[in-house]
Amino acid sequence: MINTKILGTTNEEIEEGAKILKNGGLVAFPTETVYGLGADALNPEAVGKVYSAKGRPSDNPMIVHIAGMEDLSKLTDRISRDMEILAEKFWPGPLTMVCHAKNIVPKVTTGGLDTVAVRFPSDPIALSLISKSTCPIAAPSANLSGKPSPTKVSHVIDDLYGRVDAIIEGKDCQVGIESTVLDMTEEIPMILRPGIVTEKEISEALNKEVRIDPSLREGVKGEFKPKAPGMKYKHYAPKAEMVIYRGDREKVSLAMAEEKMKRIKNGQKIEIIIFDETEPEKAAHEFFSRLRDCDKKGVDVILAAALKEEGVGMAVMNRMFKSAGYNIIEI
Ligand code: TXA
Ligand code: MG
Repeated sequence: MINTKILGTTNEEIEEGAKILKNGGLVAFPTETVYGLGADALNPEAVGKVYSAKGRPSDNPMIVHIAGMEDLSKLTDRISRDMEILAEKFWPGPLTMVCHAKNIVPKVTTGGLDTVAVRFPSDPIALSLISKSTCPIAAPSANLSGKPSPTKVSHVIDDLYGRVDAIIEGKDCQVGIESTVLDMTEEIPMILRPGIVTEKEISEALNKEVRIDPSLREGVKGEFKPKAPGMKYKHYAPKAEMVIYRGDREKVSLAMAEEKMKRIKNGQKIEIIIFDETEPEKAAHEFFSRLRDCDKKGVDVILAAALKEEGVGMAVMNRMFKSAGYNIIEI
């Protein structure tokens, strides 16, 4: 058990966090998407500790966080015009670009791949911590592997207290789901993980077609091998059994209410999750937190209504399908 320091967000405290990172320690910090668990990306020993703190499989690469465009050229020597356009338009912000890695990036950071995923976050605390540390920061989501991603500092404390050197106590994350991961190593960019930055926005910015990793097609389980290693693992799982209802919203509500009654009679504790279909950003903001609340309340079964699988709705549904282990009822 490590003695975990809880740090606030004053300059001195962020400075302290940065020093821990520089010395090879682990610091959890807020970003605009979800909380991250940071380590010096160029220090193999530090990155190794992230895998053990999270219980993360070692072939699952880290996203490397930077706080300025000059840091990008430290990690890759192939910056295409398309990457420049996307950086200009979406950075700092919730977009991660996978590019060819320079040798300086340790294999433990890239999970053995010769590419590296780079993200320039917009959260001011994250930016301040990264610049003060003066190193690129490898940071997966700050949850135990397999659990819902953390969108509040209390989630991080629940999962990682005693396993990391420090946790920076920031605000709740604004976006609530992880960044869009976009493979930029081929002529046609490919979305490996959907997020709040959508296919349409990327395609419009580049004025060209953008592909979506076929393994992300809704409800497809194991038919295609995902290109982002992390997308193949069991993910975001609440302790409760989870069932997704998909179809006409009115009929779905009725079916869920009926099922709830039946299950309550069986003595089960039920939670219903119905997000407004017209506000997928709100669903993104709340989804992981709702799952963790269900765990805290000791819910047995979660009945959730599907959202339309387009734009941000597709990103939320990608997480919802995994949380439910693709347990879907078509109405
Ligand atoms: O919003 C986010 O991206 C958050 C915050 C903390 O920045 N981070 C995050 O990291 O979600 P993580 O480790 O939970 O998810 C990283 C995803 C995984 O699915 C991983 O397999 C994929 O990105 N990935 C990382 N490097 C890759 C690479 N070189 N090629 C393909 N996929 C990669
Ligand atoms: Mg994660």
